[in-house]
Amino acid sequence: MAKYDLLKTEGRAKRGVFHTVHGDIQTPVFMNVGTVGAIKGAVSTEDLKQIKCQVELSNTYHLHVRTGDKTIKELGGLHKFMVWDRPILTDSGGFQVFSLSSLRKIKEEGVHFRSHIDGAKIFMGPEESMQIQSNLGSTIAMAFDECPPALAERKYVEDSVARTTRWLKRCKTEMARLNALEDTVNPNQLLFGINQGAVYDDIRIDHAKEIAELDLDGYAVGGLAVGESHEQMYHVLEETVPYLPQNKPTYLMGVGTPANILEGVERGIDFFDCVYPSRNGRHGHAYTRFGKLNLNNKKFEKDMRPIEEGCQCPACRNYSRAYIRHLLKAGEMLGLRLMVLHNLYFYNNMMEEIRNALDEGRFAQYKASMLDSMEHGQD
Ligand code: GUN
Ligand code: ZN
Repeated sequence: MAKYDLLKTEGRAKRGVFHTVHGDIQTPVFMNVGTVGAIKGAVSTEDLKQIKCQVELSNTYHLHVRTGDKTIKELGGLHKFMVWDRPILTDSGGFQVFSLSSLRKIKEEGVHFRSHIDGAKIFMGPEESMQIQSNLGSTIAMAFDECPPALAERKYVEDSVARTTRWLKRCKTEMARLNALEDTVNPNQLLFGINQGAVYDDIRIDHAKEIAELDLDGYAVGGLAVGESHEQMYHVLEETVPYLPQNKPTYLMGVGTPANILEGVERGIDFFDCVYPSRNGRHGHAYTRFGKLNLNNKKFEKDMRPIEEGCQCPACRNYSRAYIRHLLKAGEMLGLRLMVLHNLYFYNNMMEEIRNALDEGRFAQYKASMLDSMEHGQD
């Protein structure tokens, strides 16, 4: 069983370390998203070590439909397959089924849907999701949940959350069974539960209390950043996180901008993940402590400065804005790669700065100055 040590708090903000069989995770942490087992933008696992990545995140659904979790198990599991020996978290497939697949039907036993690749009929329920994640052998498996739309009606959300709780109990039973099998890839695989409830405080709180009793390895807050406002999201965190165990890691799924992360840390979140740094990087948008830059812009044509002055990432240590803009314009893959390396480094490095600030009891000050600099910084 993994152990979470709470090293320090500042208000509700937590500074912790999560010990796993694939190494320690210092929190707060940003998980780098590699949906199909690779960070988009031609970023290798060797690169990940250069950009302060602690945890890689992949998706059950994508690896199930291609190349197949059974094949990956046969080849020794996801860690061996993608050549990454540090922690991996796999999302359960629930969210991706809802956002990607067509013709889905939700039933008590699980979800019937069609593959976004070839239209093949697929069924996934809590047991199937755990079996796939067990075949992958990730460090942390996520529970199979339903993420209702942010603006769903109360009655729909109530029924959905009750079903998600029943699914969670089935996940826990199945994970325990799989971990005990002789040929399991990772017998120490961990399971995180997921809190749902859209923007209804009382549903969120009741659900948080209910899942807290199941004594899982960690707890996520899901169903956010799906159409509600930032203020609503922060409000949900303020209401809900106090009911999740403080001696376990908390995870805000799919969030978000650097500002969202600073606000999440303040409200007690340990883990984050988001496609923004890699996706926006591929579109030529760079995050810096002085705000966002669009490297496609003509004004960078002859700008020989790095993307961000003082940044120690592999892109900024060597290359200029002018060259990266040129690569983006020419459609060269190297342009995307350098952008993604910078953006992920920016996120991972910000998390390190957050941890240092928490260690030294100056997180509030760090947050205020970072927000001010990103908003008003002079490039
Ligand atoms: N990723 C972002 N939000 C969610 C969620 O609510 N559930 C799951 N499983 N994954 C997510
Ligand atoms: Zn950089």
